Formats: sequence, C-alpha cells, structure tokens
Amino acid sequence: MSKIVAIDGPAGSGKGTVAEILSKKCNLVNIDTGATYRCVALAMLRNNLTLDDRDKIIELSKNIDIKFGLNNEVYLNGEDVTKEIRSKEVTQIVSQVSSIVEVRKNMVELQRNLAKDYDAVMEGRDITTVVLPNANYKFYLDASLEARVNRRVKQNKEKNIDMSYDEIYENIKARDYNDMHKEVGSLMRTDDQIYIDSTNMTIDEVVDKMVNIIVSK
Ligand code: DC
Repeated sequence: MSKIVAIDGPAGSGKGTVAEILSKKCNLVNIDTGATYRCVALAMLRNNLTLDDRDKIIELSKNIDIKFGLNNEVYLNGEDVTKEIRSKEVTQIVSQVSSIVEVRKNMVELQRNLAKDYDAVMEGRDITTVVLPNANYKFYLDASLEARVNRRVKQNKEKNIDMSYDEIYENIKARDYNDMHKEVGSLMRTDDQIYIDSTNMTIDEVVDKMVNIIVSK
C-alpha cells in the first residue's frame, strides 16, 4: 500500500513550500490540490464564464485534464499554466469556485486518482478529512493571519505577482472565512490531525518537525 502524507491548513500557512521540500526529502510525489481548483477557475475565465454560470462551470470541471510535472509544473489540457493559476484574477475567484459542491466532487475524484499507486504528499483544505482520511500522516499547518499575509506578500514579490498588501490581506481574510464555511469539504481541525502552528517557525523547522514524526512513526 502506498504511503500518504496529508497536509491541510489555511491560505499562506506554508503548506505548498513545506510539501515541496518534504516531497524531495522523503521521495514522495507532491500533489497540490489547490492547483486543481485554480485550474478550474482559470478555465472558467478563459471561457468567459462568471460565477453565475454554475452549470457550465460544473460541466467544465467534469471534462478538465489536469496533470502535474516532475518539478511541480501544472498542466491544464496539456498547456503549462503554473504561473497563470497564481494570477490575481484566479486568486480572487478560486475559493468561490471551490465552494460549488459538484466541482468539489469532480476534483476529489481527480485528486484520489492522482494519489493512487504513489507514495505522495498531498496538501489542501479537506485532504485529512474527505479526500484521503486514511492517510498515514495527517497534519494541520496553521499560522496567524498577519504571518500568512506577510509570507504571501514576500512570495508574490518573488513571483512578480502584482497584489498590494491590502489586497492580499483582504483576499486571505475572505478566503479563510469561505474555506471554513463550505457546505462540503470545509477546512477544519480534527482530533486525529497533528497540529503545527508555524507562526514563529522557519520553513526548515516545520519540515524537520514533520520529517521526525514521519520517520519515528
Ligand atoms: O492552496 P491554494 O491557495 O492554492 O487553494 C486555492 C483555493 O482552493 C482555496 O481558496 C481553497 C480551495 N481549496 C479547497 O477548497 N480544497 C482543497 N483541497 C484545496 C484548495
């Protein structure tokens, strides 16, 4: 049976960076489930759909082809969209797109198929609870809102994504609320997750803590 490390947590908690390092250290395939919702949002924008076009978004999510490359590149219908899915336009609508129950159903199926047959680290909002509740290791990675906003500001600068501090603050606050109040697949804490508050930790400290837990269990 394959080994699965599941990580949930709010936007900006460091899940993406941690999962990337962990995947290399522990030889795991890295599956960024947020990227799958971002692909649906990007496809929706490209088809000139708005959030009111619910049925068309659901249809689109049913037939979408999403693949991950060896260096975490994301392919949407064969095209490398790694950068585009992080754009301001996608970031602003993705949480609402991911709230559509039928879209979630399609993405959860796609995510489970991606993890099948692999030792993997998978990060998102509902991995420990819905997508892979039987994962071998289940983490909830947290950090204060301020710390998460500051991290995202730095990250966006490095990636040349044009969003002001205030835009990022409001976006993360709104996404926190939306991600925690979904009909299905809400971000939540449970007793069987290992909780890590990374507010005052470096990425390396978080990774070391996780690796120690993984090798000792
Ligand atoms: O991790 P991220 O910021 O790339 O995720 C983008 C959005 O997708 C986020 O606002 C919530 C949603 N999401 C989700 O609902 N379930 C997941 N497993 C992963 C992400």
